Amino acid sequence: MNLDIVTLFPESFDWFRSQRHVVNALAAGSTLTTINPRDHTPLSGRQVDDAPFGGGAGMVLRVDVMDAALQAHYSVDPVELRRRRRIVALSPAGRLLDEALVSEFAGAPELTLLCGRYEGFDERIVEHFASDVVSIGRYVLSGGELAAMVLADAVFRKLPGALGHADSSIEESYSDALDGQPEYPQYTRPAEYRGWRVPDVLLGGHHAEIRRWRRERARERAT
Ligand SMILES: C[S@@+](CC[C@H](N)C(=O)[O-])C[C@H]1O[C@@H](n2cnc3c(N)ncnc32)[C@H](O)[C@@H]1O
Repeated sequence: MNLDIVTLFPESFDWFRSQRHVVNALAAGSTLTTINPRDHTPLSGRQVDDAPFGGGAGMVLRVDVMDAALQAHYSVDPVELRRRRRIVALSPAGRLLDEALVSEFAGAPELTLLCGRYEGFDERIVEHFASDVVSIGRYVLSGGELAAMVLADAVFRKLPGALGHADSSIEESYSDALDGQPEYPQYTRPAEYRGWRVPDVLLGGHHAEIRRWRRERARERAT
């Protein structure tokens, strides 16, 4: 996976880059690159935004600045670029991110995430440069960086070699192995704490019964 993130705050990704599964994915050949539109803006004073036409509060990210940033990095017109790779604009108004979309992105060899700030993107960025518009939930964050990290985290953990234990991503919430249902409850030692006992079936070592119990609990959680 070749993941590029267009952000005015590249330093926000320093912590993310140090997370174990991201380190593993990068060691296995994936890349994570940040592109700062301020480094490519054709405007003076590293300007990237402007007041909205029609009035209103806040500033809007300019289409000419995003165009320049994408052209500088990819050496191709972004209108053409989106036919070659997924370009995801992060927006509260986008398609809700779910496990199916994460799997789709994880299967893509190349992905670019556009992080908005302030009042968001000039709509022409979304219309002409993005192949997808994705929201991580029906609420408004201050910027696209956290949304990009949520998406990238979910995608990276699906890549081969990212998780210490390969099975960890096979049987978990919303996976095919669980028929798209949430995962069953998990317990560890101590078997009893403050009178709260771990279900007996998990302590008995009978694998078929454990499997049945887990499927039933997962089904219950889905309803
Ligand atoms: C303050 S928000 C802009 C909100 C915009 N004015 C609106 O009302 O929809 C700034 C940026 O944060 C990102 N963002 C905020 N909430 C998000 C969400 N729920 N999912 C994905 N991105 C989000 C987007 O990139 C957005 O352009």
